[in-house]
Amino acid sequence: MQTIPIPAFRRTAETFAAGAKTLEQKYFVSPGVFAQEQEKIFSKKWVLVGHQSQIAKGGDYFVQEVAGESLIVLRDKDGRVRSFYNVCRHRGTRLRGDQNGHLSAIQCPYHAWTYGLDGRLIGAPHMDDVEGFDKADYSLHAVNLALWEGFIFVNLADGSLPLEKVFAPLAGRFSHWNLPKLRSAKRIEYDVRANWKLIFENYSECYHCPGVHPALSKLTPYDSAENDLCEGPFLGGFMRIAKGNSLTMTGNSCALPVGDIKGEGHNRVVYYPIFPNMLLSMHPDYVMVHQLWPKSPERTLIFCDWFFHPEAFDRTDFHPNDAIEFWDMTNRQDWHVCELSQQGIASRAYRPGPYSPRESIPAAWDREYLRHVE
Ligand code: FES
Ligand SMILES: [Fe+2]
Repeated sequence: MQTIPIPAFRRTAETFAAGAKTLEQKYFVSPGVFAQEQEKIFSKKWVLVGHQSQIAKGGDYFVQEVAGESLIVLRDKDGRVRSFYNVCRHRGTRLRGDQNGHLSAIQCPYHAWTYGLDGRLIGAPHMDDVEGFDKADYSLHAVNLALWEGFIFVNLADGSLPLEKVFAPLAGRFSHWNLPKLRSAKRIEYDVRANWKLIFENYSECYHCPGVHPALSKLTPYDSAENDLCEGPFLGGFMRIAKGNSLTMTGNSCALPVGDIKGEGHNRVVYYPIFPNMLLSMHPDYVMVHQLWPKSPERTLIFCDWFFHPEAFDRTDFHPNDAIEFWDMTNRQDWHVCELSQQGIASRAYRPGPYSPRESIPAAWDREYLRHVE
């Protein structure tokens, strides 16, 4: 049997650079900064839109807005995952107004131009009478799309670096978690009245855990974080599960193990914030993924999915609610303090405050963010 190498982890506190402070107020309240983020980050970087299991069959699709652009993400008849702008090539009409479903072709609701799942225009009533009109010139506009460990990422920029290059620091790191195979048992959407960066900063430290998360702190000591990625677009590490077998309401495992986890991996929960809109939390028996969608400087839509091993679903020991309830409670505790932060930061009295040694990852996340907007 193959054993899984455990990466060398460093304690968070040792990597802390003194003098790091929270971001200035404008980064949390300014519509100008928000517009810049949409332009320089969400229109240029690889952003998470979902998981391949959401569109398991040819013809399955979902619609997602990225940087103000509505995109259709689908699986074509050959099984390939593709994305197109949700814009008709005739007079520009929005093609799909719903959120997800199944299609054999994409038909515009206005004059019934029809596109194949590969984006080619296959039907355009009366257009054959137009001299020189060639359907081949009017395919849907495609969007760059790539898969990483089964997760679907899109990039709106022309000439963007390939995803494999950008994600090279993570290559092979999560292979034993079986992420491409997993299926979501539940998605909860949260509408949070806080800037999206506050969500990242909150996720990246457990300094707040003793006061904000009494139940979480009983299972995983707040000061047990050991990080192996301490600078750049991928950050994080693991925390120890000191009591019970997983982070659930009962403390028991609630499903088959998700990955081929060995030894100490059974007592760890692994947290990685992935710039700019993914929070990846891996527990022995489930994987939780948050997708962050900034809607305004003070509002963020968050999709949270709970993924399980595909074979876990039909077993009698499958208790997904044990995990879902636990994190729904913990998520809401986090969103509440993020909303309080947003309110305080909007005050004229706010000044950047000093990060503690237990907040080296939020400080690193801020540095990475500033590299993209400044
Ligand atoms: S706008 Fe789509 S068919 Fe006319
Ligand atoms: Fe928290």
